[in-house]
Amino acid sequence: MNDAAPAAAAAKPHLPDAQTVTKVTHWTDRLFSFRVTRPRSLRFRSGEFVMIGLLGDNGKPLLRAYSIASPSWDEELEFYSIKVPDGPLTSRLQHIQPGDEIILRPKPVGTLVLDALLPGKRLWFLATGTGIAPFASLMRDPETYEKYEQVIMMHTCREVAELEYGRQLVESLKDDPLIGEVVGDKLVYYPTTTRETFHHMGRVTDNLSSGKVFADLGIPPMDAEHDRAMVCGSLAFNVDVKAILEGFGLTEGANSDPQQFVVEKAFVGDGI
Ligand code: FAD
Ligand code: A2P
Repeated sequence: MNDAAPAAAAAKPHLPDAQTVTKVTHWTDRLFSFRVTRPRSLRFRSGEFVMIGLLGDNGKPLLRAYSIASPSWDEELEFYSIKVPDGPLTSRLQHIQPGDEIILRPKPVGTLVLDALLPGKRLWFLATGTGIAPFASLMRDPETYEKYEQVIMMHTCREVAELEYGRQLVESLKDDPLIGEVVGDKLVYYPTTTRETFHHMGRVTDNLSSGKVFADLGIPPMDAEHDRAMVCGSLAFNVDVKAILEGFGLTEGANSDPQQFVVEKAFVGDGI
């Protein structure tokens, strides 16, 4: 006779829409990534987000929006997360370990999808902080490279260590047996910092409006005929980038109305 199993099961209630954590990587004291099992039925378009979370103290799911950072062909799902010290979810989520369960509502949505853009020559991914997450998915999607001649990933963080997740991901694509050949030399990575010395510095907005990024990469300034863009950062970042893109003559689009750029919040911050 064994009474231990039922007792353990009672102590650890089975979560609704549960998925199992398979890997956790801590990048800084504010950033971590993790992988979970993928529901068999989950289909999504690279760039979309889902609601994930844990059971709250009141026994109800405590959910937040998270961009899926893995590509749609991956057997597992990857997420890249902030750790907010007093954040209702991430103060606890940052402690997950392989074998733990999280809740994942399998209803992907979002505007950062290739379908929301008109065809073009160059595709710009413009991100700050964890805003790189949807692009971690799109950078690994072969369709991105089938549709565009050049893909430029601009990612800005305060400090060098905060760029590391993106840097390693881009680096790994070269030798990726599945999509390395498709990516070839089409992907251009342009990381910058704003508060620590690095070989390239400055806000995405400043490097676009001053023309520095175009000069550094040896390409012409953005125009509505050739360039398409996807934007993901804080509200202030999104507002400022949108104005700059519109200044280059680009128009904002949506799933139902494909145009030249699309925008999504990386998080809901103060004042919204
Ligand atoms: P919350 O109460 O949700 O947030 C507390 C405060 O922390 C916020 O007011 C804000 O000032 C700050 N904050 C929250 N998230 C971030 C962040 N990502 N970066 C910097 N500051 C932040 N978060 C991720 O870490 N990775 C993602 O891929 C991601 N995708 C998102 C997609 C969408 C469409 C939206 C709307 C949000 C996304 N978020 C993402 C934010 C996420 O939903 C939560 O806000 C975050 O996990 C913190 O949850 P919390 O309960 O700990 O704190
Ligand atoms: P800066 O250091 O000049 O504020 P945060 O950690 O505050 O979310 O910022 C992440 C990165 O985004 C930082 O490098 C920050 O630059 C930059 N950033 C913040 N707000 C904007 C904005 N409105 N436009 C462009 N870049 C921004």
